Amino acid sequence: MPPTTTPPKPLLIAGNWKMYGRMADLAELDALAAAVGGVRAEVDVVLCPPFTMTAAAAGRAKGGRIAIGVQDVAAIGADGAHTGDVSAAMAADAGARFAIVGHSERRAAHGETDAVVAAKATAAAAAGLVPIVCVGETLEQRKAGEAAAVVAAQVAGSCPAAGVVLAYEPVWAIGTGLTPTAAEIAEIHAEARRAFAAKFPGAAVRILYGGSVKPGNAAEILAIDGVDGALVGGASLKAKDFAAIVLAG
Ligand code: PGA
Repeated sequence: MPPTTTPPKPLLIAGNWKMYGRMADLAELDALAAAVGGVRAEVDVVLCPPFTMTAAAAGRAKGGRIAIGVQDVAAIGADGAHTGDVSAAMAADAGARFAIVGHSERRAAHGETDAVVAAKATAAAAAGLVPIVCVGETLEQRKAGEAAAVVAAQVAGSCPAAGVVLAYEPVWAIGTGLTPTAAEIAEIHAEARRAFAAKFPGAAVRILYGGSVKPGNAAEILAIDGVDGALVGGASLKAKDFAAIVLAG
């Protein structure tokens, strides 16, 4: 008889604390570690606190199921006179293993173009970090029917090489409580995968969904065809909520 159960889906669930977090909040990391300790082996769990907490968080998470990431890296890889910048090598030295690049908040507030994002992804990969490259359309672009084309162009322009993780995050879904329908998510993930395959034939890529992922909708979103995990903002700040999302997959 053929097996009747589908194999468990490998997932990557990443939390992005954005500009929140004090050292006292390492207690949330401890609580998260305790809550997700028994998560199935096919689920990778990543938490990206602010730079100020990277080293302490990595020390605290060592040996457990949670890998630490950063929310950005400098586009320039080599050490130098770049006041205020943090290089990917510094992030790796502090214990990070992943780096979010091209988050829409950085694209919007810091004018980061696809070329800048690609340079950051290159710097991250050169330092041994896994880049999580974010893409996603604005509400105006979606209303104009341009979502798929915008995302495809961002994928082509922001991914410098295979070996990255992609995160599809519609700008209008971030922090708003709004989410696309399952069909819309599936459509854009398929489009992003097509654009990636066109640039890097034969290379596999994991594509996360991000934008108002919560304990209440995580199971449904993670089950969508082509969704390989989630990038979680607000709901990653509380261990209880983030653990519920991790365990929903
Ligand atoms: P949100 O943020 O989960 O708070 O909507 C997602 C993100 O910005 O990565």
